[in-house]
Amino acid sequence: MDVLEAIRTRRSIGRVSREPVPRETIEAILEAANWAPSHYGTEPWRFRVMTGDGRGVLAKAYGDIAALEAPEEKREEARAKAEAKAYRAPVVIAVSALPSDAPKVVRAEELAATHAAVQNLLLAAHALGLAAIWRTGGPMYHPLMKQALGLAENEELVALVYLGKPEGPPPEGRRRPVSGKTIWMT
Ligand SMILES: Cc1cc2nc3c(=O)[nH]c(=O)nc-3n(C[C@H](O)[C@H](O)[C@H](O)COP(=O)(O)O)c2cc1C
Repeated sequence: MDVLEAIRTRRSIGRVSREPVPRETIEAILEAANWAPSHYGTEPWRFRVMTGDGRGVLAKAYGDIAALEAPEEKREEARAKAEAKAYRAPVVIAVSALPSDAPKVVRAEELAATHAAVQNLLLAAHALGLAAIWRTGGPMYHPLMKQALGLAENEELVALVYLGKPEGPPPEGRRRPVSGKTIWMT
């Protein structure tokens, strides 16, 4: 699959099979992510790969956050429902930006570079026949999530990428035409 085809046919797919993904495939995807560009060569992206029982850390964080936010009588129900979210795919990759503290480095650019790494990751997964979805949501930004995943104080989570073998056909893609988002200055 060439890069234009991969870009055009990639879809966010949340429903995947429980079948484990071989470690070599995950490594190939991470390798592609690692080729993202970064200003001053800071390479600020970091990956926490959760598989099998390793997803328990994410489940506990989802559960603790939901329990904190639920009324007391619904607390355990909310916890169980939230914990299950960590098991929606056999692989979950938490992607974070660890900004360099070198002079001249702009924090926004460190986030931009990490976002580029996420897109590389999604495209590589697709090219290798896997389904993936970039998820964020309130719990991802909660301080408890950062603590549970062991992020440094200045490190920021940007994505929880759920990966697995696709189940069923991909959804149809839709975009408004690029012509409406472009100004040509000739
Ligand atoms: C920063 C970011 C955060 C996202 N968070 C979520 C999310 O929390 N849940 C979700 O279902 N999709 C999420 N998505 C995926 C978008 O919903 C998806 O890209 C969009 O619907 C377009 O579909 P496509 O990726 O198949 O073209 C996110 C995408 C981005 C770029």
